[in-house]
Amino acid sequence: MTAPTGGAPTPEAGPRHVALIMDGNGRWAQARGLPRAMGHREGVQALKRTVQAAPDFGIECLTVFGFSTENWRRPAEEVSDLMGLVRSYVASDLNRLEKNGVRVRVLGRRTGLPADIAAIIERAERSTAHNTRFLLQVAFNYGGRADIVDAAQAYVDRLLAGQASGPLDEASLGLGLSTEGGPPVDLIVRTSGEQRLSNFLLWEAAYAELVYQNVLWPDYGHEALADAVRQYQQRDRRFGAIAVEPALATG
Ligand code: FPP
Repeated sequence: MTAPTGGAPTPEAGPRHVALIMDGNGRWAQARGLPRAMGHREGVQALKRTVQAAPDFGIECLTVFGFSTENWRRPAEEVSDLMGLVRSYVASDLNRLEKNGVRVRVLGRRTGLPADIAAIIERAERSTAHNTRFLLQVAFNYGGRADIVDAAQAYVDRLLAGQASGPLDEASLGLGLSTEGGPPVDLIVRTSGEQRLSNFLLWEAAYAELVYQNVLWPDYGHEALADAVRQYQQRDRRFGAIAVEPALATG
């Protein structure tokens, strides 16, 4: 899976599913002497640009980290700003997403969210459920560890209800993950130069490629996504195998 360096990346070489850690909003605002909330607001514009650009690269699914289970530790005012952005993003963009064939799915725990946000999430999911052209997954009140714990609990519940039996395996646990039924994650991108997963898609990251980019999230768009796709296309994905003909069983 190699592509020439420079020039436009070739859509058929993948990735189908890109996950984005949209980091650097605060630093973008700080560098301009603006309040952090302005960075998040510009971050929403970057998200809109990136969703629009993704199909140009053959991407069929984007998963973005909107709010983590750890983000509740931020000052109340910033938490409230982020909740406000969800309200305005859905209010301003849901019609367009719906018309453009985008299905919206929200990953993460619904408990603990303000009631109107939970209702907005349900409305966004319901009104786009029939769409199949593109899947936009927004991780909100999401943590990778919490998601695995919830999946394990769901298995225990099925077991106790007599709806599951036998030893737990990856497929049975996977049924309870909030990403269940979605395409496998091919590429995880983190912006702003930080190099860590921060509790994002821990299970799903198993064989994803990781790309770290030095751009701050509010500056993200078509060009930066093209660069991430190009880097992905230069990787050699082996999924634990080696790059030779597989051994054939004999006898
Ligand atoms: C990280 O930047 C970004 C976030 C915690 C939130 C990302 C949210 C958006 C882009 C808004 C749109 C989201 C939805 C769900 C509509 P940071 O604040 O950690 O930046 P810093 O590391 O520079 O301080």
